[in-house]
Amino acid sequence: MRRGGAGSRVLGSGSALPRRIVTNDELAARIDTSDEWIVERTGIRQRYIAGEGETTASLATDAARAALADAGIEASEIDLIVLATATPDNTFPATATKVQHALGCHGGIAFDVAAVCSGFLYALTVADAMLGAGQGTRALVIGAETFSRILDWEDRTTCVLFGDGAGAIVLGAGEADTPAREGRPGLLASRLHADGSCHDLLYVDGGPSTTQTVGHLRMKGPEVFRHAVVNLSSVLGEVLEDAGVSVEAIDWVVPHQANKRILDATARKLGIPPEKVIVTVDEHANTSAASVPLAFDTARRDGRIGTGDLVMFEAMGGGFTWGAALVRM
Ligand code: COA
Repeated sequence: MRRGGAGSRVLGSGSALPRRIVTNDELAARIDTSDEWIVERTGIRQRYIAGEGETTASLATDAARAALADAGIEASEIDLIVLATATPDNTFPATATKVQHALGCHGGIAFDVAAVCSGFLYALTVADAMLGAGQGTRALVIGAETFSRILDWEDRTTCVLFGDGAGAIVLGAGEADTPAREGRPGLLASRLHADGSCHDLLYVDGGPSTTQTVGHLRMKGPEVFRHAVVNLSSVLGEVLEDAGVSVEAIDWVVPHQANKRILDATARKLGIPPEKVIVTVDEHANTSAASVPLAFDTARRDGRIGTGDLVMFEAMGGGFTWGAALVRM
């Protein structure tokens, strides 16, 4: 989809993290790694890891409650919940339906989207299109993960990179005859892509229909790195062109938080100054579908992202899938 449906608007945001922080030094006490290696190669200093009673649905529910409070909207006003995750509470039903029940919403639409680390971009684009098509007026778009539960904790090349968390936004339908252009708030443009030929570079080696197990994450990191910089720079360019906006006009880039070096290389390639890039990978590590809304909420709450700002979201993940979206606040 090249343009936002009718330019649905961000009305609020929220996020949630597990109670427990795990530092690089704690990992280095268990596996053959070091704080120095992890910081230098990834920028990650710590991650949050879900404990007993903390699940994808519970984190998603907490993030959704915070987003509703920020937007000043009651759960009963939500018509649509789109939840992006690769680590659902159960194979089915959708984790979105658990969140719907926990929030006390009834009768609306609730489903999950599986696009791994690009999940939030996919969920945002789908929710915007559905609101634009008249399927409701208020949506919760959530990215939530407990990746710690699909990691191979003996594999130092992957387990140091990921963390758990959730982020959410409330979207409100735009006016059909006043699309979000010329300074009005709303989703200006979004682009999504997928290339299934890259499956083996980043995947989980299990599933109900293959092994009847949950499986563990497997990744060829350096190859993923190379694809990420190329794909992300290209999709950002597409979105800018669709929106008719120059790269200089962007106030903030909220990237998927996989690796500080990917964020730096992508921004450099596009000529975006580093001070415009929101970075939370040091604190959260890679939280997959949760990373973009978590970083967005962090930067809204600390006062960096404000009304009128032009914000670019971008992400790439397993599949490969990737995408970007431009929003005016
Ligand atoms: N601690 C210490 N050493 C480690 C290590 C760890 N946690 N993980 C790997 N190493 C070692 C490797 O074994 C290798 O050793 P060798 O040279 O003796 O073989 C060396 O460090 C270099 O490994 P390499 O994989 O080439 O490092 P890198 O600079 O490419 O960094 C990643 C690895 C995974 C951090 C990096 O490739 C990356 O971030 N890729 C993208 C991952 C990503 O974004 N995934 C999610 C997308 S949604």
